[in-house]
Amino acid sequence: MKEKLQKLEEALANLPLGNQPENLYDPIRYLLSLGGKRLRPMLVLLGYGLKKDDYESIISPALAVEVFHNFTLMHDDIMDEAPLRRGQPTVHEKWNQTVAILSGDTMMVKAYDQLLEGPHDSLSEAVRKFNKCAVEVCEGQQLDMNYEEYETVTEGQYIEMIRLKTAVLLGFSLEYGGLLAGMDVEQLTQLNTIGEKAGIGFQLMDDLLDVYGDQAKFGKQVGGDIVSNKKTYLLIKALELANDSQKAEMDKWIAASDFDISEKVNAIKNIYGELGIFELTQQKMNEYYDEAFALLEKMEIREEGKLALVEFFEKLMKRER
Ligand code: IPE
Ligand code: IPE
Ligand code: MG
Ligand code: MG
Ligand code: MG
Repeated sequence: MKEKLQKLEEALANLPLGNQPENLYDPIRYLLSLGGKRLRPMLVLLGYGLKKDDYESIISPALAVEVFHNFTLMHDDIMDEAPLRRGQPTVHEKWNQTVAILSGDTMMVKAYDQLLEGPHDSLSEAVRKFNKCAVEVCEGQQLDMNYEEYETVTEGQYIEMIRLKTAVLLGFSLEYGGLLAGMDVEQLTQLNTIGEKAGIGFQLMDDLLDVYGDQAKFGKQVGGDIVSNKKTYLLIKALELANDSQKAEMDKWIAASDFDISEKVNAIKNIYGELGIFELTQQKMNEYYDEAFALLEKMEIREEGKLALVEFFEKLMKRER
């Protein structure tokens, strides 16, 4: 695992990028150099590892999903007005919004350059699947923004929104590894579903860390979702389970336009505490990962590859960043 990560980091540091204008390319190098878990390209390698061993041969195309992911982060931070990313100022804060839009656009194109590094016999299938996934991420992001203004969002709407904005890219990443390894259609569909289930669990954990994480480790502003009235699983469940006075207090904070940030975050967090929201969210996350584990177990594929993937997911379930 360590060796794979090292190879990915090395290749990412050597990603072919231009130099001029500096404020187009520097933000790309900046964001990519801040680290990150690299979980999407790791999923490509782990998907590949279910059938083949020579993962070094697919490092370049595997980077496509990381470059694409970083593009979505750069634009997501504008939309979410986020000050921090991976423990450092976001690109739109350090430079400005125009820079973050254009550098992000460039990264999306660079993601295609990396896909082109993959074998030609599966290229059109790869691009077709990647495009479907990329459009779905935009659909999910638009729903996520729309829901900030909604009074009520159902659990079903929320799960579908995070499936689109986050999980489909994990699904694609795992499936892409399988595609590069030459798996059949049935196996590819299974891998995509496994990645999606784990991806839903992954976003539930992200929502949890946004409230309960340690900012120094998490690297993002803790409480940001509460500030912007994001309809996360936590808020949806709390609104659903609240008694009249808790509901009135939450409604008051959600409607407030001028407030002290930590006062709002603490008030909502208190209600989450009273309602056991932390445990409920963790339970939901476990359900999705368990579905992924069960589906993987059923696949007729190399046991050693399965074990590596299970270990990887288990680490993600315990992550602090
Ligand atoms: C953050 O993704 C965006 C989400 C989909 C939750 P990661 O948690 O994978 O971010 P990095 O790449 O490790 O920084
Ligand atoms: C991110 O959701 C999904 C995408 C970037 C597409 P979030 O808005 O929760 O991600 P973070 O928390 O900013 O990383
Ligand atoms: Mg967002
Ligand atoms: Mg965000
Ligand atoms: Mg988040």
